[in-house]
Amino acid sequence: MEHKFTITDSATGKSVDLPVQEGSIGPPVIDISSLYKSLGCFTFDPGFQVTASCRSAVTYIDGEKGELLYRGYPVEQLAEHSTFLRVAYLLMHGELPTQDQHDEFTHLMGYHNMMKESLNRFYTGFYHDAHPMAIMVGVVGSLSAFYHDSTDIHNLRHREIAAHRLIAKMPTIAAACYKHCIGEPFVYPKNSLSYVGNLLHMMFSVPTEEYVVDPIAEQALERIFILHADHEQNASTSTVRLAGSSQANPFACIASGIAALWGPAHGGANEAVLNMLEEIGSVENIPKFITKAKDKDDPFRLMGFGHRVYKNYDPRAKIIRETCHEVLDKLGSTNDPLFEIALKLEEMALKDDYFIARKLYPNVDFYSGLIYRAIGIPTNMFTVMFAIARTVGWVAQWMEMIAEPDQRIGRPRQLYVGATRRDYPPY
Ligand code: SDX
Repeated sequence: MEHKFTITDSATGKSVDLPVQEGSIGPPVIDISSLYKSLGCFTFDPGFQVTASCRSAVTYIDGEKGELLYRGYPVEQLAEHSTFLRVAYLLMHGELPTQDQHDEFTHLMGYHNMMKESLNRFYTGFYHDAHPMAIMVGVVGSLSAFYHDSTDIHNLRHREIAAHRLIAKMPTIAAACYKHCIGEPFVYPKNSLSYVGNLLHMMFSVPTEEYVVDPIAEQALERIFILHADHEQNASTSTVRLAGSSQANPFACIASGIAALWGPAHGGANEAVLNMLEEIGSVENIPKFITKAKDKDDPFRLMGFGHRVYKNYDPRAKIIRETCHEVLDKLGSTNDPLFEIALKLEEMALKDDYFIARKLYPNVDFYSGLIYRAIGIPTNMFTVMFAIARTVGWVAQWMEMIAEPDQRIGRPRQLYVGATRRDYPPY
């Protein structure tokens, strides 16, 4: 028998059967597309807390179990055993690459990782103290002006080239944002290095000296990037999908994702966590800030805590917490006062009824900044790091959306609460 929900309008007694669709795992969905025609009403779900915006096979989250799967593989296993480029291939194509596919994909990342020289000059227009995210969103949005030979979204080959260009160029673009902000010359990629090794090389090497990539930093970044690669229909991914639904070019779509990610409620939280830890300043001050976070009249929130979907520990936070301990141990910076504050803050918040009652746990952003800081990445570059990794997820989700046979422009409705019709006053 067909699985359906029947809803009845108590005002008119009219009923409508709404079909239910089942996924491979996770909650079923009620198809409400006939609701307006049948009962003349919309659904209302600000923040899309219980609204499925699409069908997807890329990533799955179980918020109660604290489970995150990339194409079915648990993220903790990928973080332990895989590499960022293998995970990128998996998210884009649905299967882990064979050795030949991996070698070809690695070659493509090296083939596409340079920027057009005139794009380098684009950076000079940004003020020296611009936030790197402001530069990144501008530069990525401008890519269609430099690479218009891969903007025809109806051409699969164009889509593939644009996808490879975006993933390959993000570390180069990000490193150039950093170099512009510190007034140093840009460094070209070196294809003998790994994807994340190249990023470290382009950020921290200078023309006057040999630079050797620190394997501790390289391995930590590899793992952090895997954990940040994709995360279902979060705010920035939903933004990319909505922009893509208007058939905007892929570079513009990813730029819209970067803009959405920047908010401190989303990817900007990793930078906000470090600023918060600096503001707390000492373990003795923690109770005062926990009180502030609980005060409804105070806009302050514990950055790096809480999540729309995870109502148990964010599995990524658990892995990043362990990586944080490892990296700070190896780099001899466990005496970092901010690390001590973070550990104590987490311990105290997890014992506090306010956080327990609201199921607020540390999320992926709570510890990642401490690792970035330990390997020398400045706080204002933390969200840029997140954007590099999440470009893989945005691209994978955009490719899935654009290939949907019944792909249509996204256009939500509203509950109108404004003025009813009125005539212009006689003058
Ligand atoms: C990311 O969506 C994703 O998947 C995002 C992400 C990804 O990989 O793409 O996981 C990455 O964005 C992680 C989240 C990073 N943001 C932060 O760490 C910022 C701090 N967190 C909060 O702003 C908040 O928890 C959100 C934005 C993450 C979630 O917001 P929700 O789901 O809208 O939750 P809510 O605001 O409805 O909060 C529910 C209750 C409220 O209290 P009551 O009104 O019920 O009394 O919990 C409280 C909130 O006031 N609350 C917090 C809190 N987070 C929620 N109180 C204090 N500190 C916090 N951090």
